[in-house]
Amino acid sequence: MSEGSVNVDQIQQAVQRAIQEAFGEVQATVGCILGSGLGVIADQLEDRRTVSYADIPYLKESTVEGHAGQLCVGVFAGQTIVCLQGRPHWYEGVSAETFIALISALRCCGVQTVIVTNAAGAIRSDLTVGDVVLITDHINLQFKNPLVGIAPPPFISMDTAYDLDLRKQLLSISAEHNLSLKEGIYCGVLGPSFETPAEIRAFRTMGADVVAMSMIPEVLIARYFNCRVLGLSVVSNPAAGLSDQALGHDVTLAGVKEGRQTLVQLLSEFIQRSTPESLTDTTQKGTSFV
Ligand code: HPA
Repeated sequence: MSEGSVNVDQIQQAVQRAIQEAFGEVQATVGCILGSGLGVIADQLEDRRTVSYADIPYLKESTVEGHAGQLCVGVFAGQTIVCLQGRPHWYEGVSAETFIALISALRCCGVQTVIVTNAAGAIRSDLTVGDVVLITDHINLQFKNPLVGIAPPPFISMDTAYDLDLRKQLLSISAEHNLSLKEGIYCGVLGPSFETPAEIRAFRTMGADVVAMSMIPEVLIARYFNCRVLGLSVVSNPAAGLSDQALGHDVTLAGVKEGRQTLVQLLSEFIQRSTPESLTDTTQKGTSFV
């Protein structure tokens, strides 16, 4: 029960009503949050049903090009999955409620495993445009946390935020199918401006491998709801100061195209193999969903 300035129960219930109205009962295995230019997976769903974010309380419409702003349910690689085609970002001025609603929408569809994808700038020198990077950890330089205002304060652990077992599963799929998959630490910034070259040098010193403006609030809420999380970045550009190219959203959208086929193949294999058992983690305890 939440009694702080953010009423989690109220958000969950409102979202649940909207999802119920749109789809009735849904039992999905995984939920995918699809970043800039990565909505193609949602386009490949069979028996696809959609609901616009405008029809889900607290979600509103996302304003960023490359983000369609809808929730899709359908069959991918033989499994019923949910895709969030587009996501809100802190830089759009949204509040914590938006991120709670986003993950609640997945939870209403039965999702316990959340796959979070995004386009990112490469900080580490061996990462190039089109590389898919499995996120092992993050550094939150957004200096915002969507759990603020929930009472009692959820002092959740973030030491295994990116599920080790799911990471191992994906690494073995990549080896088996000869699909390139690197690993790295994600640095989340607020945006919407890109970074300065000095900031990128500082982030590198801090241990960051890729940088982008999303994902962290979603991961925090997903972990609060005790979902298992898999994070994947597609490198869309060398980070600021690491090439002669001027950065912009057009660069991100163009760059991400180079890696999205690998991402789709990796996810297709992962989802095809996933069973309720392979996705159920009995070792982690946390907040249950009402
Ligand atoms: N910086 C921040 N966010 C990004 C970048 C970047 O270089 N590329 C894609 N999203």
